[in-house]
Amino acid sequence: MSSQRPAVLRVDALHPEPELLEQAARILSAGGLVAFPTETVYGLGANALDEAAVARIFAAKGRPERNPLIVHVASIQAARALVTHWPAEAEALAAAFWPGPLTLVLPKRALIPSLVSAGLDSVGIRIPAHPVALALITLAAMPIAAPSANRYTHISPTTAAHVADGLGTGVDLILDAGPTQVGIESTVVSLLGAAPQILRPGMLGRAELARVAPTIDYAKSEPASDEQRPQLAPGLARKHYAPRARVMVVEHIEADNDHGMTRVGRLSLHPSRLASSTDPELAIVLPAEPAAYAEHFYEALHRLDALGCELIVIEAPPRTEQWHAIWDRLNRARS
Ligand code: TXA
Ligand code: MG
Repeated sequence: MSSQRPAVLRVDALHPEPELLEQAARILSAGGLVAFPTETVYGLGANALDEAAVARIFAAKGRPERNPLIVHVASIQAARALVTHWPAEAEALAAAFWPGPLTLVLPKRALIPSLVSAGLDSVGIRIPAHPVALALITLAAMPIAAPSANRYTHISPTTAAHVADGLGTGVDLILDAGPTQVGIESTVVSLLGAAPQILRPGMLGRAELARVAPTIDYAKSEPASDEQRPQLAPGLARKHYAPRARVMVVEHIEADNDHGMTRVGRLSLHPSRLASSTDPELAIVLPAEPAAYAEHFYEALHRLDALGCELIVIEAPPRTEQWHAIWDRLNRARS
């Protein structure tokens, strides 16, 4: 946690004030870093075509340069200008789900600095479904490289306060438009192979994607950790999306089991199971519906971390396809 606070501008989430966006766009044009809301999580943005600016992202996050960044654009035309090949699946998926929580990995053009793509020949691109993000990209008139605005291996931020706490003055400006709605990172789909592959699951699930791209499947090795090279080093660095506290997933949560620790946070789907908690502040009930659970999940982990929990005990959600992306994040948090 940084002791110094970055500049934060409160913007209207639906109708962002043009003069505030102008300030942010000027910083981006000058090679600076602006954290901004998307529908998934807050991103840490820089001009994707300015290698020195992109280098500042890696420094601010403490992120190894082997991890590619996602490039955010405001139109399909702008996406196509970044790639050497735009297959039929890209057109179909983009038409169906953009703007939205879907990143498409495609062969990149040389104008994208290799630092953005961590030396890979491909680039991840998406059009975010957030009025602030879209207006900022349009006004700045550039593709914006933006990973989640957290320190390397920490949990992604769903509020501007999470960004400020995590990155401090490593970011030049934070646009604060309130909490994000999807709550976990976008679904990442590679279109480099014969059939589309899900590299990182997200709340836009396989069944929905398959309506448009019937041959889509999960990548076999599930290498989709945020902090690894998906094609080149699968299986490394699984510990990501993790709070500072240890994380344990249990089938049935017990409000009075301290697991030998002094400060235990709990996340349950059932209010009754936490009713006897001695410290109600550390006992959080999350919604039993996957989209609403995802919306509040990282916020709950951030809160329990900030309250100094040594251990966070999480009750296992259902093991159904709708919970797949949440299970992915749970497994990464505890591994
Ligand atoms: O929802 C999101 O995707 C957020 C918001 C800010 O848009 N961004 C985000 O970025 O989660 P980041 O950097 O934390 O995650 C980027 C991930 C990489 O770790 C990798 O899994 C995948 O996207 N990715 C990006 N470029 C890729 C490429 N060329 N090949 C394979 N995977 C790539
Ligand atoms: Mg990330």
